[in-house]
Amino acid sequence: MVQDIYLTGITTTGTPHIGNYVGAIRPGIAASKDKLKQNYYFLADYHALAKAEDPERINRSTLEIAAAWLALGLDTDNAVFYRQSDIEEIPHLTWILTSSTAKGLMNRAHSYKAVVQANEESGNKDPDKGIMMALYSYPILMAADILMFKSTKVPVGRDQKQHVEMTRDIAQRFNHHYGDILVMPEAVIDDNTAVLSGLDGRKMSKSYNNTIPLFADEKKLRKLIMKIKSNSLEPGEPKDTEGSTLFEIYKAFASEDEAADIEKRYADGIAWGEMKQVLFEYINEHIKPARAEYQRLIDDPAVVEQELLKGAEKAREISVPYLEEIRYAVGIRKLV
Ligand code: TRP
Repeated sequence: MVQDIYLTGITTTGTPHIGNYVGAIRPGIAASKDKLKQNYYFLADYHALAKAEDPERINRSTLEIAAAWLALGLDTDNAVFYRQSDIEEIPHLTWILTSSTAKGLMNRAHSYKAVVQANEESGNKDPDKGIMMALYSYPILMAADILMFKSTKVPVGRDQKQHVEMTRDIAQRFNHHYGDILVMPEAVIDDNTAVLSGLDGRKMSKSYNNTIPLFADEKKLRKLIMKIKSNSLEPGEPKDTEGSTLFEIYKAFASEDEAADIEKRYADGIAWGEMKQVLFEYINEHIKPARAEYQRLIDDPAVVEQELLKGAEKAREISVPYLEEIRYAVGIRKLV
C-alpha cells in the first residue's frame, strides 16, 4: 500500500493567535508526532507576497509562525518543516503548471471572484482594480506546493477546498498531456476542529482585528480577555454557555470534565468578571511553558533559521529529482 503524504501550508502574513492554535497548530503538532504518517508543513511566504506588500511584516510573521510551531513541540525529526521560498523547485513547477492551466479555470476561483465582486459592488469601472497576477494565479502556486511533494492528503480549512480541487484539475490536465507523472491529492477537512470567536464575538480572524495573540505576555493576555464580549446578565443570574465566547474559548482549551464544571457555574450564575479571570488563568497556565520557549526563539532567530534549513534540505531530497523528471517530460532537457 502506498503511504499517504500529508501536506499543509501556513501563509506568513500575521501573528499566530489562539484561533490558529486551536484550529491548525494544535492538531498539526499532534499529527507531526505520528510515526505512521508522513507530514509536510511549510511557511507559505510566496503566498504571503500575494496578500501583503509589507516586507518587514512578512519577515516577522515568518519568524513568529515558525517559532510558535517549534515552541509548541512540532516534531521536526518526524515531520518535514520548511519555508516555501527555500524550495527553489516550487517556482519552477509553478511556471510549468501555469503553461498548461486554462485561464478559464482561474476565472472561477472564489478568492479572485470575491474581489471582482467587491469592485463591482462599489461601482468601480474596472472589475480587476487592485488585483495582482499573484492573486489571480494563487491557486497555481498552491498546486505546485501540493504536487511538488506527491501529497495525497491536504488538511485545510473549508475556504481552501476549491484550491485543492483546482490542483486536481491542473494535475489531471498535465497528466493527460504528458503522462502519468503528478499525484492526485485530496482535501481533508476536519469539521470537528473548533472555530473560535474573537473579542467581538465574530470569528477570530486577523482581518477582523479581534484576535488574541497566542503568545501575548501575561499583562496583555489579561487585558484582551477582559475585553471579550459578554452580555448584560448580572452576577447570580443563570447564564447560557451556548453562544458565550468566553465559554467557547475555555472549552477549546480545557478537558471535558473541566468544561462541564464551568457549565455548572454558568447555571449557578457566575459573574462575567469572574469567568474572565478563570479563563485568563487557565489559558495563561496552559501557554506559559511554550511562551517562554517562544520568547527564547524570537530572541535567537538563528535557531529557527537552522531548523528551517534542515527542513528544506530534507524536502529537496524529493523536489530536486522530481522536478528533473517533470522537466524531462515537458521537453526541458539537456541536449546530450
Ligand atoms: N492558501 C492556504 C491558506 O491561505 C495556504 C497554503 C499555501 C496551502 N499553499 C498550500 C495550504 C498548500 C495547503 C497546501 O490558508
